[in-house]
Amino acid sequence: MDLVPEKKINPKIKRVIGVVSGKGGVGKSTVAVLLAQSLAARELRVGMLDADITGPSLPRLLGVDSFRAESDGSKLFPIVNEEGIRVLSINLFNEREDEPVIWRGPLLGKAIEQFWNDSDWGDLDYLIVDFPPGTSDIALTALQTIPFSGLVVVGTPQDYVSMIVSKSVKMAAMLKAPALGMVENMRTMVCPHCGKETKLFDDGNEGGRARIGLPVLAELPWRKEVAQARSLRWSSLSAEAKKDADTIASGMELALASLKSASAR
Ligand SMILES: Nc1ncnc2c1ncn2[C@@H]1O[C@H](COP(=O)(O)OP(=O)(O)OP(=O)(O)O)[C@@H](O)[C@H]1O
Ligand SMILES: [Mg+2]
Repeated sequence: MDLVPEKKINPKIKRVIGVVSGKGGVGKSTVAVLLAQSLAARELRVGMLDADITGPSLPRLLGVDSFRAESDGSKLFPIVNEEGIRVLSINLFNEREDEPVIWRGPLLGKAIEQFWNDSDWGDLDYLIVDFPPGTSDIALTALQTIPFSGLVVVGTPQDYVSMIVSKSVKMAAMLKAPALGMVENMRTMVCPHCGKETKLFDDGNEGGRARIGLPVLAELPWRKEVAQARSLRWSSLSAEAKKDADTIASGMELALASLKSASAR
């Protein structure tokens, strides 16, 4: 099997960033949306592709779950949210958002291919792709179909999670998608009462970090407002949560710039 087939380049999209993890529920979608919101707040043109076909969460998080995307028979058209982020997700094509997608692997992969190959994204500075967890069939198709500028790996500090995270990092390397670094989620929590930041794990996570061998782009603390939010709208985030989002975006942009300068050498 050819692991790295030819990928179709879209000249209108400047950079494509994948948000991946080894494990489910570690905060990929949260990180992906905060990243996209921060970039959009800098007046960049941003799109989000929901590659989590069986567990899509972008429509809600971006506040467009009541909208339905359209197709003219040959192209799919993203929905534009209030902050100007263009989004495509399988849930934007279902009659009801709670309808499960019960498809076999090849069909799931086709959806990803269509989102990339047959969609009218317009001109974008960044397309952020929210991955399904792990090294599944869909994740593999996404990595084989979309020419990623870089991947942001999301992890939580537990060592065993780190071991699983390193599987997805290795898969990405095998598919020639460069991992930019990690966003470490929920290493600390911000107390909703006193605002103090507390470590959630007594032990440091140096072992797990070292095993993955990636730079840490940003740390994202647990925040009650993020846990409780139905959507992550820029206007409803606190200044602190906006700062978290900006840190992720700056970390990603720095890593991307150093990747470029390394490859230019
Ligand atoms: N920093 C955080 N603070 C508070 N809650 C968080 C934080 N990060 C994630 N969560 C919460 O944890 C849950 C899982 O997060 P999220 O959906 O982003 O993970 P995921 O990795 O995309 O999951 P899946 O693998 O199912 O796609 C969500 O309810 C989210 O609100
Ligand atoms: Mg998710």
